Amino acid sequence: MGSGTTLLAAKDLNRNSAGFDLQRKYITLSSERLANQSLTGNSRQIAIQDDARNIPEYLEKNTISLIFTSPPYANLLNRKRKNKSRRNKDNGQLNKIEQYSQDPSDLGTLDIDDYTKNMGDIFENLLPYLKPKAHCVINVSDMWWENQRIAIHVNIVNELTKRGYELRNIIIWDKNNIVNQIGIFGWPNNYITMGVTFEYILDFWKKPI
Ligand SMILES: C[S@@+](CC[C@H](N)C(=O)[O-])C[C@H]1O[C@@H](n2cnc3c(N)ncnc32)[C@H](O)[C@@H]1O
Repeated sequence: MGSGTTLLAAKDLNRNSAGFDLQRKYITLSSERLANQSLTGNSRQIAIQDDARNIPEYLEKNTISLIFTSPPYANLLNRKRKNKSRRNKDNGQLNKIEQYSQDPSDLGTLDIDDYTKNMGDIFENLLPYLKPKAHCVINVSDMWWENQRIAIHVNIVNELTKRGYELRNIIIWDKNNIVNQIGIFGWPNNYITMGVTFEYILDFWKKPI
């Protein structure tokens, strides 16, 4: 769930939604952002602090219309910052690791193989909770790791297909505009280019019966 943008979008669209994140600080932030929104509409949005592995405990089978998530991109952020894309390179972030957390359950601490397996386990367990033909949309980028190009999106497509999902579409999210203009990524103003100016939006569904 992160900062709760998906919950806010759900509120704008008058859709019920539940967001999950490991970290208490994101539950607080999301709840504050939701509280600042207008009071129109009669849908409900809730932010829940828990591991994505436990989401099934909160749901009933065949009731979910959409899963929408931007998970950690394996351990992309779990290394010291080089500040290559910063004008002021020697700022307080230089050589610091700025990862969401070092909690062992955090998907951002796992190397690509463990990450792929854990993503597979999480999404396989969620499949029974989707309605037939409901979509599961995952936003990821690829990454460089020790001078190797790691195609995270290929791993996810293959793993989720193995776990019973069907791929319906891949959308390339071109972020050039954002990078070239002011470099605003996420909320509020996180500047992370990660060496690419696009990400993948992987669109799966639960096959019709
Ligand atoms: C890429 S961020 C999400 C960014 C989000 N799209 C936004 O706009 O802020 C990934 C989030 O996944 C959370 N996370 C990592 N491992 C998790 C797990 N096992 N269960 C639940 N949340 C997890 C992190 O705490 C982090 O907030």
